[in-house]
Amino acid sequence: MKKEDLKALLEDMSIEEKIGQLVQIPGFFLEGESITTGPAAEMGFSPEEIYSAGSTLSVFGRDKIKKIQDEFIKHHPHHIPLLFMGDIINGYKSIFPIPLAQGCSFDPDLVMRLASMAAREASVSGLTVNFSPMVDLVRDPRWGRVMESTGEDSYLNSVLAEAIVKGYQGDNIADHEKMAACVKHFAAYGAPVAGRDYTGVELSERTLRDDYLPSYKAAVDTGCELVMTSFNTIDRIPASANTKLMRDILRGEWEFDGVLISDWAAVSELVNHGIAKDDKEAATLAMRAGVDIDMCTPVYIKNLGNLINEGIISETMLDEAVLRVLNLKNKLGLFENPYHFSEDTKEEEVILCSEHRALCREAAEKSMVLLKNKESILPITDPDKKIAFIGPYVSEKHIFGAWSLLGDEKDVISVEEGVKNLKLKNKITFSKGCGRLDERYELYSFRGLESEEKTDEQRALEQAVKEAGDADIVVLMLGEHPGMSGEAGSRGDIRLLRKQRKLFKEIYNVNKNIVTLVFNGRPLDIKGIVNRSKAVIDAWFPGIEGGNAVARMLFGLCSPEGRLSMSFPYCVGQIPVHYDSFSTGRMYDGDKTNRFQSRYLDIPNEPLFEFGYGLSYTEFEYSDLTLSKNEMSKSVENDTITASVTLKNVGDRDGCETVQLYIRDMAGSVVRPLKKLKGFKKVNLKAGEETKVYFEINTQMLKFTDINMNYSAEPGTFRVFVGGSSSTDEYCEFELL
Ligand code: BGC
Repeated sequence: MKKEDLKALLEDMSIEEKIGQLVQIPGFFLEGESITTGPAAEMGFSPEEIYSAGSTLSVFGRDKIKKIQDEFIKHHPHHIPLLFMGDIINGYKSIFPIPLAQGCSFDPDLVMRLASMAAREASVSGLTVNFSPMVDLVRDPRWGRVMESTGEDSYLNSVLAEAIVKGYQGDNIADHEKMAACVKHFAAYGAPVAGRDYTGVELSERTLRDDYLPSYKAAVDTGCELVMTSFNTIDRIPASANTKLMRDILRGEWEFDGVLISDWAAVSELVNHGIAKDDKEAATLAMRAGVDIDMCTPVYIKNLGNLINEGIISETMLDEAVLRVLNLKNKLGLFENPYHFSEDTKEEEVILCSEHRALCREAAEKSMVLLKNKESILPITDPDKKIAFIGPYVSEKHIFGAWSLLGDEKDVISVEEGVKNLKLKNKITFSKGCGRLDERYELYSFRGLESEEKTDEQRALEQAVKEAGDADIVVLMLGEHPGMSGEAGSRGDIRLLRKQRKLFKEIYNVNKNIVTLVFNGRPLDIKGIVNRSKAVIDAWFPGIEGGNAVARMLFGLCSPEGRLSMSFPYCVGQIPVHYDSFSTGRMYDGDKTNRFQSRYLDIPNEPLFEFGYGLSYTEFEYSDLTLSKNEMSKSVENDTITASVTLKNVGDRDGCETVQLYIRDMAGSVVRPLKKLKGFKKVNLKAGEETKVYFEINTQMLKFTDINMNYSAEPGTFRVFVGGSSSTDEYCEFELL
């Protein structure tokens, strides 16, 4: 439809119809037999209101969507199609590793291909908008939603946000296999006080701008069509009523002209927050702040009409919001083809096709992180070794993250199956050892819990101990239940559950050759397990091909290359712990006799494993870090310095290294972080091979929010670090003039 036609359509719509476009109704309203008696009626929506809605969410399946759309268009006064939205966070049915694990791949191309695959499966099934990417910067592993983020670093998150948006949207969202992306949760949802979901966020404006906002901006700059507000407050103002965030920064500074949608019920929650006295005031505040769509409450539909009649909200403001929604529908091509998908592409040919499964496996392999490998116990290459696979994850199929709404266990390869697929000569046993959950957690209803079979704990333990005693190597497969992370999945104690720790202890008593694999949705407090294991791999929630990927990793058919996208704390007391912390007036210099320094008396300052850390089956050596010159000038346009380093694979296996560039601004008008990631490159090297790796440094990379709140680079000394993790201490310096 042409722009003029869209405007004409808008002019022809009644106020009620226009308001309808700003209302999102839950999918279950439309799925029942009758909307006059179903849940919609219970929530007070009349049939006319339902048939004026602009969008819905969480309806899955092409036939169902087509039926609903046909029915809907028939009833709608202007036959305007619905937008079908959904949360396709780590795959539609071809489920791949959770976003935090994808962050560990440090591989934007892979992440883009994954997003593209997810969009392909989701859009052939009728979805048009994806509530992803979630790019909230995360520093607190107690918060369950860290699994949905790509991690603790603003640069990595920004690069991956761009990759995901490109993967979903391609060049044209009208393409049958593309969909519109919705970046969330704007803003700073990843910093809830004490890691408890839905609590407030306390950040200085400088921290917000320098650390938390860049990844949302990266998505917006890539052309992301929608933005979702967050549940939290910022500076004591709920994000969903935050004019500064949305009108000033998002629409003003960043010139975002797409659709802004609230998070689920976040508009009505303005009343719970205590900043609106009733729904009417909540609608006023959200509209004024710029929220176009009210997700799943009757607040807009019941109040906007009166607010316009009373002149509290102008019709111009309403029209602007409606036009943005219509514009999105138009860009998706829905006025020409309301189903978006092409009749020629069949769901059954696309979903879970072999190409998609292969990509899921590649992603699982590239995102696992080898945390320890003493005596090179891994990979296991000796066919004479007897191996006991023990633990609740050995034959578990529920190994996808909390948001895998369409994930189906029947499509999953368990570790046991993955190992059997390799047809090894080794003598191998498999046993469960214990259940996944403690009673305390069983109180909560988790998806997948229904199928959690009860374990005879005593028998399972005895059998496991016996098998461990007879084996040369024990592979212990432990972890969290996927329901323990994700939304409303905060934990105060992030150790493995008691029964799993007990299992570990009993096994350790009979066999010290332990390789531990952890399945998890967050960095865990696992120092006890790490200390007593010979090797540890973090497998995260790897998705449908997880079992194949784990088996191939253990037996050396692929080599670990993941790097942590979020630090593992030494213990909960250290949280939040992240690599880009600041200088203090009393930095700890390692002198334990000097009490008055910034340190804990009982634990180290350093995390258990830092951001960017991860081992390989081979070893890499860095040398000759050099800068092309030692001065760069702000006044010379496009001035750059090239940092180079020699990287050599000094081990006896081929491998892939993630070379990381960090910069430290030695003195600024405000305190500067000790290090900031500014670039990374993945380099594949054969055993013995060496190469030069180059990074270009420009003034843009040196900018921050200065003392006057300007985004600028200040003259002075900069330290350039290049190495294999954020703890690298090899550096060179240059002056910015
Ligand atoms: C979550 C969002 C999600 C929305 C729709 C909310 O509870 O916070 O991330 O997109 O539900 O499912």
